[in-house]
Amino acid sequence: MTATIIDGKIIAADLRARVADEVARVKREHHLTPGLAVVLVGHDPASEVYVRTKAKQTESAGMASFEHKLPAETSLNDLLSVIAALNSDPAVHGILVQLPLPKGLDSQKVIDAIDPAKDVDGLNPVNAGRLATGLPALTPCTPLGCIILAKTVYASLEGLNAVIIGRSNLVGRPLVQLLLNENATVTIAHSRTRDLANVCRQADLLLAAVGKPEMVKADWIKPGATVIDVGINRISSADGKGRLVGDVDFQGALNVAGAITPVPGGVGQMTVACLLGNTLRAACAIRGIVEPKV
Ligand code: GUN
Repeated sequence: MTATIIDGKIIAADLRARVADEVARVKREHHLTPGLAVVLVGHDPASEVYVRTKAKQTESAGMASFEHKLPAETSLNDLLSVIAALNSDPAVHGILVQLPLPKGLDSQKVIDAIDPAKDVDGLNPVNAGRLATGLPALTPCTPLGCIILAKTVYASLEGLNAVIIGRSNLVGRPLVQLLLNENATVTIAHSRTRDLANVCRQADLLLAAVGKPEMVKADWIKPGATVIDVGINRISSADGKGRLVGDVDFQGALNVAGAITPVPGGVGQMTVACLLGNTLRAACAIRGIVEPKV
């Protein structure tokens, strides 16, 4: 058996196009230009690439993009002042502080300071709590992307055995809530889980978000299962440039899974597309316009 490859590039491009159409409509009908502010502290090379991609795609979707690049030695107070200014800026509807922050800056204090209405990362405890209690919320982008990708395989996720590996606030924990909302049966596994391979083998839908290169082996996968690989890990390669791999042994998994996301070209593509969707949603909610279905 060779698994179907779930093409995140195409699915993300389709979502970006739908967001751009809705942005054009709210501009035309409501004179509203959604705006996203991204704050980058320091010079982490991977973060700089992500931030550039976010700015480019925000502008391509017809939205306003505001970049705030701050030196690595920025104090917590100065960073909180930038957040406060963005919270009260009417042109800004979404605020994203790129993580991880340089050592010494308490990211929770920064996330707590973001106005929940502009928290397009869905990381503020208000949004996390709303999601956990089944209330409408701004929802973290990577988990949202995982759900969209899974739904390209299954018309409905209802009743599926879903196993998530990883319990981060950014991915694993919000994924539990989103999968519960879809009526899946959810197991969340982590570094202390006993017999992880056997837990994974029960999954119709296996989602790996641990950050360990190729940790999930072919014999951890139930034949025919759908595998969503959230990991983006750079490993060394013969040419010295390094290459990106996921948390799943992709070549091995191809022989067992029914469908699988590649790395790169899978979940990563969806994160920014969902961020654009969240910015549009936040802008409409702030202005009291009926939220678009994108
Ligand atoms: N760093 C890696 N992924 C993310 C994300 O989704 N949001 C933020 N703010 N930082 C990240």
